[in-house]
Amino acid sequence: MSEPIRFFYRGAVHEVRDAAPTQTILQHLREDLHCTGTKEGCAEGDCGACTVVIGSLENGKLEMKAVNSCIQFTPTLDGKALFTVEDLQAQDGSLHPVQQALVECHGSQCGFCTPGFAMSLWGMYLKQESHRLSGRQLSRCQIDDALSGNLCRCTGYRPIIDAARRMVELPPAAFDRAALAERLQLLQRAHGFSYEAQGARFHVPRTLDELVRLRAELPQALLLAGSTDVGLWVTKHMRELNEIIYLGQVEELKHVAEDDGMLEIGAGVSLNDAYAAVCTHYPDELGEMWQRFASLPIRNAGTLGGNVANGSPIGDSMPWLIALGARIVLRGAAGERVLALEDFYLGYQQKDLQAGEFVRAVRIPLPRAGLRFRTYKLAKRFDQDISAVCAAFAVMLDGDTVTNARIAFGGMAATPKRAANAEAALIGQPWNEDTMRAAMAAMREDYAPLSDMRASSNYRVQAAQNLLRRFWLETRVDDPLPAAAVNAFAQA
Ligand SMILES: Cc1cc2nc3c(=O)[nH]c(=O)nc-3n(C[C@H](O)[C@H](O)[C@H](O)COP(=O)(O)OP(=O)(O)OC[C@H]3O[C@@H](n4cnc5c(N)ncnc54)[C@H](O)[C@@H]3O)c2cc1C
Ligand code: FES
Ligand code: FES
Repeated sequence: MSEPIRFFYRGAVHEVRDAAPTQTILQHLREDLHCTGTKEGCAEGDCGACTVVIGSLENGKLEMKAVNSCIQFTPTLDGKALFTVEDLQAQDGSLHPVQQALVECHGSQCGFCTPGFAMSLWGMYLKQESHRLSGRQLSRCQIDDALSGNLCRCTGYRPIIDAARRMVELPPAAFDRAALAERLQLLQRAHGFSYEAQGARFHVPRTLDELVRLRAELPQALLLAGSTDVGLWVTKHMRELNEIIYLGQVEELKHVAEDDGMLEIGAGVSLNDAYAAVCTHYPDELGEMWQRFASLPIRNAGTLGGNVANGSPIGDSMPWLIALGARIVLRGAAGERVLALEDFYLGYQQKDLQAGEFVRAVRIPLPRAGLRFRTYKLAKRFDQDISAVCAAFAVMLDGDTVTNARIAFGGMAATPKRAANAEAALIGQPWNEDTMRAAMAAMREDYAPLSDMRASSNYRVQAAQNLLRRFWLETRVDDPLPAAAVNAFAQA
């Protein structure tokens, strides 16, 4: 019999022995623990009704992050702490400032989405402790971002935003981080482990070497990182996954390092931490993309490695990574291979990933003199929406001459794809309106996109050309428009 999953829950270590490895945390809470404060709205990470906060030790430091429990599998909790809306009230029955503020501001309206809002607010409350201590108000941008993954369908956002402001004015509630970190330390395993139940196995390596060995032994097993794509294969597509290798406990995949003009981001770094790291170098260029990538709970769970490995043609990271000339580091039993990211994508859902390999890291060139770079996302909503078209442009200028150009799009082809004709029309030319218009015309030969529910083919082509024009307007040598990116977010 396999070892049980062990996690910290409601003041004690909780063990799970017979739940299916793809049982979601939400199902475990509601069906096994009868803890029904956490709700199910969509079961696909969109509505936030299922938001919980998970505490974990990341490189020895306690992290508390709001995530969507409907798409996270129960075994991923091993060695962590799970907090639900039931944990907010103090033992003497008094309300937590988050709850008190929701009451005072009339922020609980339908009641169904409220537990999710409360947990997102609590996640922000914990994170912004320093703001509270220094008496600074939370910015509207921070509040909107923390709530970007919670839908309120009765149009009642204003009282909830009022509650977010009010909660930090109330007498603070103590949360003993040191005690939790100590409890979690005792739960850490020295080695990886395998959990087995209901005919399926869930492997949890703890080191890169263990992962390499497991991956070679089980090349057909599914790799699981943040579960923000894979979770939906189970909850929406009803797929049965019988052999899973979970990457979330391999510390060596969670590094961020700078070397030789490159920023290396481990495949297991969360999307939020990865965008934070890249935005220290490209705040104007990538700040808006950071903010608009899904929602905070999805970015807390999902990884940059998962985004790149999944390689969706409408994924948001690939266009800007390819435009910047990023490289992907693949690891297998035979060692490492490093590829230009665009060469990794061979066709729809086809990648240059050999049996036994996994993505170890992504290497991103740092800013250099002469680089003009922007990325743009077109979607129907500002937050939490998938792109219809996602564009990235990088040109190198020597004076006013384009010496190199890299243009990449999502939403325009079966893979993230460069615009070879448009690039050729730019290189060696002056960075002026005639050149830009010639490249717009050449781009017609680069793409023949599909029409689907997000956008028609014609819209996509015209939007792609217009985005090139916008890029030129913002980066022209003589009279550039001010950058339109949301710098306040990147710098908050
Ligand atoms: C509500 C919602 C909103 C979203 N919004 C956006 C958005 O705005 N933009 C966007 O681009 N995406 C979006 N996504 C998709 C998703 O969040 C991203 O693709 C995310 O980066 C996936 O990472 P993950 O760690 O969760 O991957 P997982 O779901 O764990 O895995 C995804 C795939 O990658 C493979 N994989 C993961 N890590 C590795 C590795 N290291 N090596 C090899 N293979 C690996 C897995 O086997 C699987 O095939 C959204 C998803 C949801 C549910
Ligand atoms: S139930 Fe909607 S995000 Fe989880
Ligand atoms: S308060 Fe629940 S939908 Fe608005």
